[in-house]
Amino acid sequence: MNTITVGHRAGPRLLAGLSYYGPAGLPDHHRQHGPLPAVGRRLIDVVDAAGLTGRGGAGFPTGRKMRIVAGGRGSKVVVANGCEGEPASSKDRLLLTMLPHLVLDGLAAAAAAIGARDAYLCVHDHEASLLESLQAAVAARKDSVRIQVSGVPGRYVASEQSALVQYLNGGAAKPAFSPPRPQERGVRGLPTLVNNVETLAHLALIARYGDRWFRSAGLPAAPGTMLVTVGGAVRRPGVYEIELGTPVGEAVARAGGLAEQPQALLVGGYFGAWLPAGAAWPVPMTHAALKAAGGALGAGMVIALPASSCLLAETARIVRYLADEGAGQCGPCVFGLPALANAMADLAYHGGRGRAGRQLAALLPLVERRGACKHPDGVTQLIRSAVRVAARDAREHDVAGPCRGITREPLLPLPGEDL
Ligand SMILES: Cc1cc2nc3c(=O)[nH]c(=O)nc-3n(C[C@H](O)[C@H](O)[C@H](O)COP(=O)(O)O)c2cc1C
Ligand code: SF4
Repeated sequence: MNTITVGHRAGPRLLAGLSYYGPAGLPDHHRQHGPLPAVGRRLIDVVDAAGLTGRGGAGFPTGRKMRIVAGGRGSKVVVANGCEGEPASSKDRLLLTMLPHLVLDGLAAAAAAIGARDAYLCVHDHEASLLESLQAAVAARKDSVRIQVSGVPGRYVASEQSALVQYLNGGAAKPAFSPPRPQERGVRGLPTLVNNVETLAHLALIARYGDRWFRSAGLPAAPGTMLVTVGGAVRRPGVYEIELGTPVGEAVARAGGLAEQPQALLVGGYFGAWLPAGAAWPVPMTHAALKAAGGALGAGMVIALPASSCLLAETARIVRYLADEGAGQCGPCVFGLPALANAMADLAYHGGRGRAGRQLAALLPLVERRGACKHPDGVTQLIRSAVRVAARDAREHDVAGPCRGITREPLLPLPGEDL
């Protein structure tokens, strides 16, 4: 997915400084937005009033998290999560490669607001040129916070916030058992604010233009804009900036509309859920509305699956990938996810014995809500949505064997696969 397109009714905000000629350097960034104003603790009130929520997947209120960290004892630390572990998402990479100073401004503003002297910007360690360009961007600035660009292992669970903290503390990049959460005890034992890089980019704009400006886009209960990665059977796959509350179908329309008759949409990424295309179309893109519709907003991905693909086979590939990506330290990851991946593959590719569906149904409750982190629950949510949305296909696979869709080229992207 390499087309980068901007679409926003009220004009782009985050993507306003995007140029087709290359990454925005510091002078370009200042020409677009002016220098970052001096901010202090009052910024937390402004972020609260703006109603900014985290764009890393869970949608936690950013002001509330900043206040918890600021209220902790002693020095503080900020960690910008730029790992973008979701293989189907491209938004964080777009920000970091094309608009790095927007993210760095957000990091500096968050540090000033909570009283942090040290900050880390984390990206995957195999992204050598990204690491290099971010180091150069940091060197071009005069921030009072010390910003260190850190490479972390490119595994799915390594970018969960406690895994990042554990890695920065010299340990393995695996989710830690909580409490304490990073907000209370994080890097070097200090209260640590972990935010997604898109969240920080919004924060950089709120520091300049204020809470009322932020709320002038989106819905009162879900204000502002967000970046979505739209892919699959659409004419112009890419990253788009939309207002919160934009219907899913309109996000697809921004990407040029459907390229093929759709069967279902995967909304929210691999920790999200499948929704029937027709049902998903009018649903406003907010955490609450998508949850009520049986989906998830996650980190803002919409992937259209064509009618000729096999939803069960696509899901089986992703479940196998996610099972292999577990940290192997809790029962659900060690035993549950591999068993689920086998059962899902059985249903998708073998079937015909009438037992794969029953096997899946028996395994799901044994895995749910039993991991130290949300990794296993993300996988079970995806499987449950697949067998719900493709219920008829699942029965036919189970009884009569796989459909013709399994012979089609896989659609959902996975790391290392060039689709
Ligand atoms: C398995 C797993 C993987 C995650 N990967 C990412 C990631 O790649 N990027 C990200 O920003 N958040 C990721 N998160 C969420 C982070 O733990 C954390 O909630 C987020 O960085 C906080 O930022 P926000 O409040 O700005 O959204 C992941 C969570 C889980 C459970
Ligand atoms: S559930 Fe899995 S990924 Fe999460 S902490 Fe346990 S072993 Fe690690």
